[in-house]
Amino acid sequence: MQKTNVLVLIGGISKDSLNKRLFDFVREAAGDRMAFDVYPIADLPFFSQDLENDPPAVAVDYKARIASSDAALFITPEYNRSFPGVLKNAIDWGTRPPGANLWRGKPAAIMGTSPGAIGTFGAQNQLRQVLSFLDLRMMSQPEFYFTFPRELTDGHLPEASAAFVKKFVDAFAAWIAQHTQQK
Ligand code: FNR
Repeated sequence: MQKTNVLVLIGGISKDSLNKRLFDFVREAAGDRMAFDVYPIADLPFFSQDLENDPPAVAVDYKARIASSDAALFITPEYNRSFPGVLKNAIDWGTRPPGANLWRGKPAAIMGTSPGAIGTFGAQNQLRQVLSFLDLRMMSQPEFYFTFPRELTDGHLPEASAAFVKKFVDAFAAWIAQHTQQK
């Protein structure tokens, strides 16, 4: 069976990012169904219109990776009730020059975690607006807001949380299959 190729953008770029840790649980739940291309978004320069018609090699490579992916997964922390600028920069790179929006029609999902009580709701809410505008095919359910207890960093998820990660990944796999057939 051919694996689904999923581009993953993680908005937390710190070495001990909780969102990177959350992705480890996603990878585990996906098993051999998905091949993940985790793109290091911190490698991209700041987007500028001065660069869009002759982008640097790193951006050319990134754009090719967007284009060749079957789907995209966005995992975001919350910064000041929104998502981090470094993630917005990576999204913007995929949209230019005009008429070359590489995100259009791509099945996608959002998830995220922070130690805060609302578990990235504010960030995801704003991110969903941007991605919907860019015409990705956004999975709307289940939503995934997770308040990450710091002590979990090196451990395992509680059973109920692990089951929810699996439910999310199962729904995403079905969403990708449904929207890939419609292309
Ligand atoms: C935060 N943090 C945060 N948390 C939250 O729940 N709501 C918020 O609005 C904010 N705002 C915020 C702003 C800035 C500039 C920083 C640096 C942090 C806390 C943040 O979510 C937490 O540090 C996460 O662990 C960051 O994600 P990663 O890097 O661990 O994946």
